[in-house]
Amino acid sequence: MTAKKAAAKKTTAKKAASKKTAAKKTAAGKTSAKKTVAKKTAAKKTVVKKAAVKKTVVKKAAVKKTVDAKAAETQATEKKVVVKDASGQPVATELLGPEEGRWNPNIFVFACNWCSYAGADTAGISRIQHQPHFRTIRVMCSGRVHPGFVLRALEKGADGVLVSGCHIGDCHYISGNERQLEHFEITKRLVHLIGLEPGRVRLEWISAAEGPRWAKIINEFTDQIRALGPSPLKGEKDERRAG
Ligand code: FES
Repeated sequence: MTAKKAAAKKTTAKKAASKKTAAKKTAAGKTSAKKTVAKKTAAKKTVVKKAAVKKTVVKKAAVKKTVDAKAAETQATEKKVVVKDASGQPVATELLGPEEGRWNPNIFVFACNWCSYAGADTAGISRIQHQPHFRTIRVMCSGRVHPGFVLRALEKGADGVLVSGCHIGDCHYISGNERQLEHFEITKRLVHLIGLEPGRVRLEWISAAEGPRWAKIINEFTDQIRALGPSPLKGEKDERRAG
């Protein structure tokens, strides 16, 4: 009886021990599972963090690209040029348009020999930069520029025509420029009559000493013609050729 009891006690103790072991195992399993879940969560967090960093980098790159593009665009559309007088002193700052990727007009400039042509020379000698899309036709006096000359230039493909001479009172032929004033009134009417914008022709007085003024007027007139676009007469001429 005592031996039986002892055996039963042993068995109970064994069972208790195995239960303990099983409990331990379960606890260890649970801990390791918990650890694995924690590890996975941490890994997930790292991935999310990395993705966020990547997103920020991409965003920054996009912003940089936009800024660079804007800077390039500004550089392409604006070119600052300091206009200097004959002594090299800066007198103004001009914005020049880019020469690439933009339509450049074809401008004819009638310049009187004694003032405006000499003014253009002064601009050149003083190295004053200005837009180059014009051809200068030297005449002895602005009074020589008959309205027919301007119309002929427009017919021949000019997008704009500038007539320039000495200031009133300075004409080397006394009243040639006053005559040009009368001519120009007729020129404007004829330009209107053939259906062109009045802004395609311009009359200016520029003296031999006014190099910066020459550059300023050339820049202004070039921008004015650029804004008007190509002369419609050009299209008609092409059509006539094709026909
Ligand atoms: S000489 Fe210059 S306008 Fe007559």
